Formats: sequence, C-alpha cells, structure tokens
Amino acid sequence: MTPAPLAAVVLAAGLGTRMRSRRPKHLHPLLGRRLLDWSVAAVGALGPAPFVVVTSPGSLAELEGSLPPGVDLAVQEEPRGTGDAAASARPALAGFAGDVVVVAGDTPLVTEGDLAPLVEAHRREGAAATVLSFEPAEPAAYGRILRDDAGRLRRIVEASDASPEELAVREVNSSVYVFEANALWSALARLDTDNAQGELYLTDAVRHLADDGRPVGVYRASDPRVGEGVNSRADLAAAGARLRDRIVSAHLEAGVTIVDPATTWIEDDVAIEADAVIHPFTVLRGRTVVRRGAEVGPHAVLVDAEVGEEALVGPFCYLRPGTVLAARAKAGTFVELKNATIGEGAKVPHLSYLGDAEVGEETNVAAGAITANYPHQEGRPKARTTIGRNVRTGIHNGFEAPVTIGDGAWIAGGSYVTDDVPPDSLAGFPPRQVTKEGYLRGKRND
Ligand code: UD1
Ligand code: MG
Repeated sequence: MTPAPLAAVVLAAGLGTRMRSRRPKHLHPLLGRRLLDWSVAAVGALGPAPFVVVTSPGSLAELEGSLPPGVDLAVQEEPRGTGDAAASARPALAGFAGDVVVVAGDTPLVTEGDLAPLVEAHRREGAAATVLSFEPAEPAAYGRILRDDAGRLRRIVEASDASPEELAVREVNSSVYVFEANALWSALARLDTDNAQGELYLTDAVRHLADDGRPVGVYRASDPRVGEGVNSRADLAAAGARLRDRIVSAHLEAGVTIVDPATTWIEDDVAIEADAVIHPFTVLRGRTVVRRGAEVGPHAVLVDAEVGEEALVGPFCYLRPGTVLAARAKAGTFVELKNATIGEGAKVPHLSYLGDAEVGEETNVAAGAITANYPHQEGRPKARTTIGRNVRTGIHNGFEAPVTIGDGAWIAGGSYVTDDVPPDSLAGFPPRQVTKEGYLRGKRND
C-alpha cells in the first residue's frame, strides 16, 4: 500500500512578545540560521508537499524568497492563537487529502529523526491526530498531556488553564503533531477562545477529536529536551547551546579533536575532516571546510573559508568568505584574510590583512602586510594582488592593487608596492631614515 500523501505546516506567525524585541521571534539568528529555519529544515527532510509556513504580515517580506524551494507562505493576519494559525494554512492545502505534519516554528531542537517515527506511529495506529510529547526536567509553561485511565490521550491543557493536579503532570506537548487533514480542518472549525489567553488553541483540536471518539495518540520522545520551545532570549541562548553541543558531538564522533566543546561554535553546514584540531573559543561559520590534520585557533573566526590539509590557522585569526588555505599553509596571529588564496606551504604568520589576493606556494609574507584596493569605485570589482611562488616580502609592506609580484622576488621591508615586480627581482624603496644629530638639544624644556 502506498502511504498517504504528507503535507506540512510550520506555525511562525506569533509575535513572540516574550522576546521583548522589535524583530519578530522567528527571524532571530540561532547558530547561523533564523530560528524558524531549524524547524523548516527538519520538516523539509520528510519531503512534504504542500509545505506551508504560516507567517505574520510583518515577517512576510523578509521570508519571501528566502525559504527553500517548494515552501509556500500563508499569512495569519492577526495572532489569534495556534489553532487560527493552523487554519490560515488551509487555503494553501485546498484539495489535499492525507496527513499533515504541524510544527511550531519555535522548536529548533526537533529533527527529522523525531518526526519520521512520529509520522510512522500515526500511520500505524490509523490515528486522526498524534502528538509528539516529551518530559522535560521542568514542565514549566508547557501544555500538559492528560490521559485517561487506560493511558489514552484525552486532551492537552495549557499551563495557564491547568489545575494544580494537572500542573503536576510531567509529560508535555512539544507543539509537533500529525493530523489527518480533514479531521484537522473540522476540529479547527470548532475552536473557541474560552480560555485564559483568549486564543484559539490548536491543542483544543486534539480534544475535539478525542471527544468525538476518533483515535488520537501520543508519541513520546526519549530526549527530555527535544521539544524545548523558544519563547524568550534565555530560551534562545539555551537552544543555541544545545544545538552547539549536538554539532560538536557529531564532529567528535567523526574523529575531530575539539579541545573545549563548550566554547567552540560550529554552524551546521561546516565540514571538518578527521584529525583536524579545533582549539577553544573558535567560531566556524557558513560553509567553512577544515581538512584533515589542519589546526585552527584558539580564538579564530572562519566564515565560508577552506583550510587545507595540515594547514594552520593561528590565534585571533579571521578568515572571511572566499579564503582558501592550501595544504600546509599558515595564517597566523592577528591575520585577516578575505577572498584570498594562500598557496601550499605559504605563510602569512603575523599581523596582516590580505584581501582579494593570491599568494603562491612556499611564499612568506612578513609581518604587517596590507593589501590596498584603491583606487576603486563603488560597484567595481575589487582589484587583485597577486604574489607569486617563493616570494619573500619584507615587514610592513603595502600592496596597491592591482599589482603582481613575480615568482622568487623579494620586497624590501617598509615598502609600499605600487608597480608589478618581475620574477627574481629585489624591489621596494623604503624611505631612508633621516637623523639630525643633537637637533633637540636646547629646544626642550628639560
Ligand atoms: C505552545 C502550545 C503548548 C506547547 C508549547 C510547546 C498551544 C496553545 N500551546 O505553547 O501546549 O507545550 O507550544 O512549545 O498551542 N503562533 C502563530 N500564531 C498565533 C500564535 C502562535 O503562528 O496566533 C505560532 C508561534 O509563532 C509559535 C507557535 O505557534 O511558533 C507556538 O506558539 P507560542 O505562542 O510559542 O505557544 P506556546 O506558549 O509556546
Ligand atoms: Mg512557544
């Protein structure tokens, strides 16, 4: 039997007032993505169609064009509650018959690994609705899962509507559900606002189905933190730390040395090969790649950079997008590189900024090198600095792009390079020192 079609709805139209922010909650950054992108990625892995994100009018412009292909947007005009938010997706699902995964866009810890068995359990039981529950250390403000004597789900009660006995229940609602589509729409049509928050609760849809005698189920997650929702800045920080731990653990498992997991922040799309070493307080962002045996940090920040095999990235190094260190290359202490390629075995050991530059194999760029991209005009591509192989630059060299230093050339210390240097040449005209002996005698007040 082919499985019923699967659609999905991510609810992300709430205002998130508990964040105390001008920025809508779901657009807050969380380890390299926006909060809602974590839910969208987890749900997207199931391949649902249609796949709808419900947003507020205020977030629409920012979300348009920034979600994965195949994701449609629906607008909830006013935040009238999670039930109303789900109902706002209905037009986008017109004519759909099958199961609908509904996920709150503020539950970034839920993964495909939690959703797939939930859908499976729902289908196995032939349920009208199945809720993903979890048992956090502190059930706090979560909706409590209330079961009958036989252990069947009866309803979900919000903490603000719960009696003291109900509040004592430790199993809570994660805001992740699977509904049979028609059951969902008919139950949503019966919601009311007769509750402490005066909202249309999605949780009440489950109660209506249970009241009707429809099969409703609970799938209990084993991870006590999986359903943690982000409602405040403290929640956002906690979720960030949790996601960081997960990502770091996966790299440790795969053979990467991470000296201090608690201070190492690695975004989800970063790739690190086995036997790389990441030192404390290092931040690896975007599509950064660190190859086998490379060493990075401490206190290094890499964004969309590639670090080759056995390459070294020193303390306080900032590698910006488009930077490639070839094998055994070195970017040392207080070095900033942007859109720069450093050849095999080449070194930029100290206190330098190289942007839009190429450095050839085995070249040494001495301390204090700076590339200058002027003269350039806004909108024109940045001119490049090309430094050949086996070059020795001097300390405190400036390079006025576009400029090319030939292979094997040497540049004198203190030089500002404005013209191309042919291979094997010695170039540079450092200003010579002027010494006026005794000049100050009798001129000072001492
Ligand atoms: C909700 C659940 C609660 C559960 C908890 C898990 C309800 C009534 N309560 O509470 O049982 O334990 O999640 O995290 O569902 N949203 C809209 N439009 C609205 C209101 C909310 O799109 O009008 C979205 C929010 O943006 C959010 C999600 O729905 O992503 C959940 O809403 P939120 O206000 O965070 O509900 P909780 O109080 O966390
Ligand atoms: Mg929430």
